[in-house]
Amino acid sequence: MTTTQETTTQETTTHTATTAPSLLHLDASIRPTGSVTRELSAHFAAHWRRARPGAGYVHRDLAAEPVPHLTHAVREALLDGADHGEPPQERALSEALTAEVRAASTIVLGVPMYNYAIPSTVKAWLDRLVTPAHMVAPDGGPGPLSGTSVVVVTARGGSYAPGTPREGWDHQEPYLRDVLRSIGLADDLAFVHAELTHANVFPQMASLRPLAEKSLAAAYESLERLAA
Ligand SMILES: Cc1cc2nc3c(=O)[nH]c(=O)nc-3n(C[C@H](O)[C@H](O)[C@H](O)COP(=O)(O)O)c2cc1C
Repeated sequence: MTTTQETTTQETTTHTATTAPSLLHLDASIRPTGSVTRELSAHFAAHWRRARPGAGYVHRDLAAEPVPHLTHAVREALLDGADHGEPPQERALSEALTAEVRAASTIVLGVPMYNYAIPSTVKAWLDRLVTPAHMVAPDGGPGPLSGTSVVVVTARGGSYAPGTPREGWDHQEPYLRDVLRSIGLADDLAFVHAELTHANVFPQMASLRPLAEKSLAAAYESLERLAA
């Protein structure tokens, strides 16, 4: 059984060629400490920044400062840029989130698995970005975000690898792959999964600890390579 899977997509590159090196680092775990995704995303960020002294860096914590759900007025404003009576702070937030993504040459996204999917905080962040301004044609673009490198680091209590009882229940990677592609963020996209994190928590999963350790070690290794 493979407990760590890393998958990449390499297509055209346009955005990175024109963007100064800058890392956007996002976390979404509700655990301020002891979070596997936070540790892994921080590991990637440390290696990435060490390799690029002076590069830009922005960290956004989607759990500590959740992006509010869309309202009709906010969505209308995202669609046409006009004033629809949304509170000024909502417009400012949409603009700040967009500016952060547009300025980034690389994005690392720490995404815990919650109920077989992404945290709602990540969905709320995506809801501000999936707008006509960023959408690319179904054949792949290009769009204003095309060419950005994206690394998605996930952690999950169980395993979703081929041959496991819940093979096919991973609704993180397929969804993120499609939604990121829709806004041009799949040209250079890698997924790194740390699986079986519950093995260290629940005694009934103790026999799976060696697999969990292997998965975590492979995730660190993949991230160092991707950050180089
Ligand atoms: C609300 C919640 C829902 C979860 N749902 C799942 C799940 O569907 N499948 C799974 O394998 N693990 C699930 N887990 C376990 C987490 O994915 C696991 O603890 C992971 O390590 C969380 O990331 P973190 O360590 O960065 O906090 C869930 C945890 C929480 C808190």
